[in-house]
Amino acid sequence: MPSESLATVEWDLDEDTGIATIMLNRPDVLNALSSQLREDVITAFKTLERLDDESDGVAVSVVVLEGAGEKAFCAGADITEFSEVQTGSFNMSPVTSIAEEFVAPVIAKIDGYCLGGGLEVALSCDFRFASEDALFGFSEVNLGLIPGGGGTQRLAELVGPSRAKRLSMTGEKIDGNKAAEDGIVNEAVPEEELDETVQEFAQELSGQPPLSIRSLKDVVNRSQEVSLAEGRRYERRVFDILQETEDADEGTTAFAEDREPEWQGK
Ligand code: COA
Repeated sequence: MPSESLATVEWDLDEDTGIATIMLNRPDVLNALSSQLREDVITAFKTLERLDDESDGVAVSVVVLEGAGEKAFCAGADITEFSEVQTGSFNMSPVTSIAEEFVAPVIAKIDGYCLGGGLEVALSCDFRFASEDALFGFSEVNLGLIPGGGGTQRLAELVGPSRAKRLSMTGEKIDGNKAAEDGIVNEAVPEEELDETVQEFAQELSGQPPLSIRSLKDVVNRSQEVSLAEGRRYERRVFDILQETEDADEGTTAFAEDREPEWQGK
């Protein structure tokens, strides 16, 4: 199983299922996003992308992003580094766009604190599963700041402007159940069920035709950026491309032969 321990991130890839895990690994400081951690997260995604590019078909079906330790997914940007950075040079966006830009779906598995930049990272994932006791918030307002990695924009898109303003202006922390009720996470489950719930969902995605899954991520993301008419044209173009793939051929043949399809990612 390919795996690597970077300074602040660990990742591995199960070659049988294509399920990769990326773990933020600074549990002593609640996985706060230091510049090193931000760089390591990007390196991990880029390495998975390279393995995927080099494979015959696809190597990565889905990525699970999680935090090390019992207490946090991620407590936000590393506040101790703020005094060292010059105005204008602090940029969360590379790390908060990497999951969104990654070719395969990314699931955030959230246990414990998910604050500030940690919430921004989670919001850039395709799916969020949380423990009922996880705590979500945009704490930046308590520091006289605001989220700077796209968090307010993604949250407003997800739950509407008023809920986004309430969470970010009050700096309040809401639990996993409330986050699920508000639509911030897909599902909140008791802590002891989180691993299994995420694993089951990752396995479900990994059994799907990978090119369809990647295309769905792409076209739905596109819908957030362009007009409805342009999005519809784009979806149609992607449909035409998929029709030419071996997997589309396999899907229709398997249907005609009344058997399970075997996806190749080609
Ligand atoms: N940056 C740097 N260090 C952080 C951090 C962050 N965002 N969040 C937590 N830590 C560190 C703490 O300083 C502490 O370090 P220490 O053991 O060397 O003192 C360690 O992580 C554990 O945190 P602690 O505050 O002792 O845990 P707690 O359970 O009492 O409180 C929080 C947890 C999350 C409520 C609290 O740590 C907090 O408010 N953190 C800042 C969250 C924030 O504002 N994030 C947005 C940044 S823009």
